[in-house]
Amino acid sequence: MNKYDEDSKEVIENHSHEISLPPIPSRKKVILLGVTASIAAYKAAEIVSQLRQRGHVIFVIMTAGARNFITPLTLQTLSGNLVFENFLQEDPTSCQHIELADRADLLLIAPATAHTIARLAYGFADDPLSAVALATRAPILLAPAMNGKMWMHPATCDNVNRLRERGVEFLGPVLGRLACGYEGVGKLIEPSAIVEHVEIILNKKK
Ligand SMILES: Cc1cc2nc3c(=O)[nH]c(=O)nc-3n(C[C@H](O)[C@H](O)[C@H](O)COP(=O)(O)O)c2cc1C
Repeated sequence: MNKYDEDSKEVIENHSHEISLPPIPSRKKVILLGVTASIAAYKAAEIVSQLRQRGHVIFVIMTAGARNFITPLTLQTLSGNLVFENFLQEDPTSCQHIELADRADLLLIAPATAHTIARLAYGFADDPLSAVALATRAPILLAPAMNGKMWMHPATCDNVNRLRERGVEFLGPVLGRLACGYEGVGKLIEPSAIVEHVEIILNKKK
C-alpha cells in the first residue's frame, strides 16, 4: 500500500455519521469544494476525482438544492469524506464549519449558481457553504454555470464585481451550448481547466 492509499484509508476509517475532521497529513492541501444546484453539478464528480488523484484532501459542501442534481453518496465516495450539507451534521461540542474554514487551503465552488453568487456577495451565512465562505481566509475560486442571460444580468454583474473587489477569483463561464437550449456564455469551464487553475493558486500560496 503506498502513502497515498494509507492516507485515504485513514480518512475513510475516520467516518462517522457526523462530520468529523480526520487527521490530515501536513504536506497535503485541503480543498473545500462547494457544489450548488446547477445542471452542471454532475461535473463536480470529475473535479473531485481529479483533485484527489493529485493527492489533495477534499471536503465537499453541498447546498440543499444541489442534491437534486448529484447525490452526496457519489461525492462522498469520490472524496473519501462525508459530504457537509447542513449544520445539524456537526458534532454539537465543536464548530466544524469553522474548523473546515480554518483548515482550508482553498474554497472552490464549482458549479456556482447565480443564487449562490448573490448570497456570497451579500454575506449570507444560513447554510454551511455560505458560512464557510465568510469564515475562511483561504483564497476563494468560483466557477459559475448558468443561463447566459442570467450571467449577463446587471444583478449578477454587480454581485460578481462586488466579490471580485474582495479578492474572490472567477474562472469562466465559457461560451457553449447551454442545457436550457441557448447558445451563450454561461457554461461551466471544463473540469480539467478548473483543476489546473487550482494548482496555480495552491502553488502561489506555498
Ligand atoms: C433543471 C434546472 C437547472 C438549473 N441550472 C442552473 C444553473 O446552471 N445555474 C443557476 O444559476 N441556476 C440553475 N438553476 C436554478 C437553481 O437551481 C436555483 O436558483 C437554486 O435556488 C440555486 O440554489 P443554490 O445556489 O443554493 O444551490 C436550475 C434549476 C433547474 C430546475
